[in-house]
Amino acid sequence: MKHYLSIKDIDSLANWVDEARVLKNDPKKHIALGRGKTLCLLFFNSSLRTRLSTQKAALNLGMEVMVMNFGNEGWALEYGEGTIMDKGTSEHIKEAAQVVSQYCDIVAIRAFAELKDKQKDEAELVLNGFKKYAMVPVVNMESSVGHPLQALADAITLDEHRTLKRPKVVLSWAPHPRSLPHAVANSFVEMMQMQDADFIITHPKGYELNPEIVKDTRIEYDQAKALAQADFVYVKNWSSYHEYGKVVSNDPNWMMTLKKLGKAQFMHCLPVRRNVVVEDRVLDGDRSLVIEQANNRTYAAQLVLKKILENL
Ligand code: CP
Repeated sequence: MKHYLSIKDIDSLANWVDEARVLKNDPKKHIALGRGKTLCLLFFNSSLRTRLSTQKAALNLGMEVMVMNFGNEGWALEYGEGTIMDKGTSEHIKEAAQVVSQYCDIVAIRAFAELKDKQKDEAELVLNGFKKYAMVPVVNMESSVGHPLQALADAITLDEHRTLKRPKVVLSWAPHPRSLPHAVANSFVEMMQMQDADFIITHPKGYELNPEIVKDTRIEYDQAKALAQADFVYVKNWSSYHEYGKVVSNDPNWMMTLKKLGKAQFMHCLPVRRNVVVEDRVLDGDRSLVIEQANNRTYAAQLVLKKILENL
């Protein structure tokens, strides 16, 4: 594999999940594979899980790791072709990506949507800029449109906890005080479309995700109907896609509660706002999978890095 930019870079989700579960049983088995190789992590936005789990994954493979908080410590980057750079930007992506490539063997990037300009966000300037100009493989640690490392970790977690061949899985929107991107929800939807499940998305009207991603996945606007007999409930907030980046409604009744969860297992990518997105009793209960999801981030990242290292 050359790059890991989208969940669609996975050729067989079932095989990848199986391989990740084997890695999880013996995480240091391939410690010789990455010896002498360096991973560079560039963060344009904050992180806890992605930063530490991806480092841990690289260390398990014997790699060296360099981390830079590019968003507040790097030069402001320019992306335009032929731009006269006499304003706020100091360095062009063309030089930056090539320079970074000389210091590492794989570069991983986190650059969120700004949620102001849909066209600009969907152009994925940072991720695609590195893909275009870097001379090394690029890994997406959450971009404007997707969070494929999270979705792979979620697939591993679902596989570990499913008791049915075809479980009912619900992606439920939740209220949030801030305007959040669509990346986690997008990649979760695409990942669910790659496996056999009774999968439903539920959200208030106005929070429809990008129809090119949702395709023919069922949407149920009545949360109670959607949640009936669910085996897994994945909760996430996102802002409006059509009124791009706007919080068009914030009904607190959409918060996940223990009563609504029923017999289902609860999933969330974290970080999560307690008693806004989900009540304490769910997160502190024995059907919450959130800590295991975060643990599986290591093995998702490790599998991706292993496949790239094997191809260098
Ligand atoms: N889920 C996730 O990506 O967490 P961080 O934002 O803390 O990395």
